[in-house]
Amino acid sequence: MRNGSQVKVVRTIASARRLSRAARGKVVLVPTMGALHAGHAALIDRARKLAGPEGLVVVSIFVNPIQFAPKEDLSRYPRPFAADRKLCDEHGADVIFHPDAAEMYAEGFSTFVEESALSAPLCGASRPGHFRGVCTVVLKLFAGIEPDVAVFGLKDYQQCAVIGRMVRDLNLPVRIAAVPTVRESDGLALSSRNAYLTPEQRAQAPLIRKALLSAREACRRGEKSAARLRSIALAKLAGAPLARVEYVELVDAETLEGVSRLKGEAVMAAAVFFGQTRLIDNILL
Ligand code: PAJ
Repeated sequence: MRNGSQVKVVRTIASARRLSRAARGKVVLVPTMGALHAGHAALIDRARKLAGPEGLVVVSIFVNPIQFAPKEDLSRYPRPFAADRKLCDEHGADVIFHPDAAEMYAEGFSTFVEESALSAPLCGASRPGHFRGVCTVVLKLFAGIEPDVAVFGLKDYQQCAVIGRMVRDLNLPVRIAAVPTVRESDGLALSSRNAYLTPEQRAQAPLIRKALLSAREACRRGEKSAARLRSIALAKLAGAPLARVEYVELVDAETLEGVSRLKGEAVMAAAVFFGQTRLIDNILL
């Protein structure tokens, strides 16, 4: 579907849908907020594989205002469109859907999608309304672009779980594909927000991953107590004096409910502030 090596940029839902309906193979969507890095690139690579040469890979780039709380970083969120376009091109995307806020949200917009169980703990507890904003925009992207498959990253484990639940509960005809977290060589999960870190904060940020790895190590040695696994992770994080821990929790991998003793698959999830910058990561135990 690609025209030479040029990814096509469309700014309206109508034109994105027209391209999607004209596709000769599967339509695979990668929803993003831009400021693309190697983590997003891995999602686009997966999308390209899933779509095959005949299919259509659509990357949406939209900084979704309704998933940011008033004091969050909406206005300073990076928007390097030229570099994003280059990355999409290099990774074989066919279309960038890049609407403005007016295209996505009509004046007086008053309809929202709320998943009410998996959205409650972890990031949902500290960012009220965040997953409502995510679900609403993702459903709008699904309705507008009509993808067969949508690709998400496991870096945002809770987001994957919430979207999966929404798809199941609302019978959406979209398959969700999840891609493992892409990291820097020192273990820090790639994130558009890493760019906000000062050199000192950046030097300490890999301790988030190290903390989660130390919990996994303890788990492999037979530790089952969530409280002790949590303390092990927190002790490691104490080595980063600039870090302010928002949460480190052990939750059931499916329900995201807190567990007190490990049995079955669990996820240890962490959110840590360095200054105003909030970083998240998780590990399967
Ligand atoms: P954004 O933060 O831009 O992330 C877009 C996608 O890239 C998400 O599925 C996210 O999990 C994935 N991603 C980010 N960093 C990654 C990494 N290091 N490794 C693997 N995947 C990574 O998540 C959002 O945007 C928004 O909430 C969105 C779903 C687009 C709705 O507005």
